[in-house]
Amino acid sequence: MENIIEVKNLVKKFKDFTAVSDISFNIKKGEVFAFLGPNGAGKTTSIKMLTTLLKPTSGEVFLNGHHVAEDPHKTRKSIGIVFQDPSLDNELTAYENMQFHAILYGIKKIFRGNETPIRNCPRTFT
Ligand SMILES: Nc1ncnc2c1ncn2[C@@H]1O[C@H](COP(=O)(O)OP(=O)(O)OP(=O)(O)O)[C@@H](O)[C@H]1O
Ligand SMILES: [Mg+2]
Repeated sequence: MENIIEVKNLVKKFKDFTAVSDISFNIKKGEVFAFLGPNGAGKTTSIKMLTTLLKPTSGEVFLNGHHVAEDPHKTRKSIGIVFQDPSLDNELTAYENMQFHAILYGIKKIFRGNETPIRNCPRTFT
């Protein structure tokens, strides 16, 4: 079965401190994968390297077939994230939040719907 994520001998060093020490794993298409570990184990550092936010010191990551370090734009286009904390703005209506995110994601104006804010649209609450 096709690997959707391939991590090969991934290392991240901050000066002489090794935050991620030579990890390798594959995740197959359709698999649900949880990345767990104690505080300071290197999870965030690893995920940042998997999602183009941090360059590895050495090793390689392939995501959806893209070489993450060599092809960050194609990699970013092929992934999505769900934030740990809510990313909605409570000062905006639900409609305005959708418009805002559509703009951030480069959705063309004609696909973003009516430009006029709907004032009686429910506000977001967390
Ligand atoms: N920019 C940085 N410079 C120096 N050290 C860093 C940097 N970022 C992370 N570290 C160190 O690398 C190690 C791994 O950090 P990381 O944040 O990846 O761990 P984590 O598994 O996500 O931890 P937590 O469960 O607390 O979120 C920690 O010791 C951290 O202090
Ligand atoms: Mg973390």
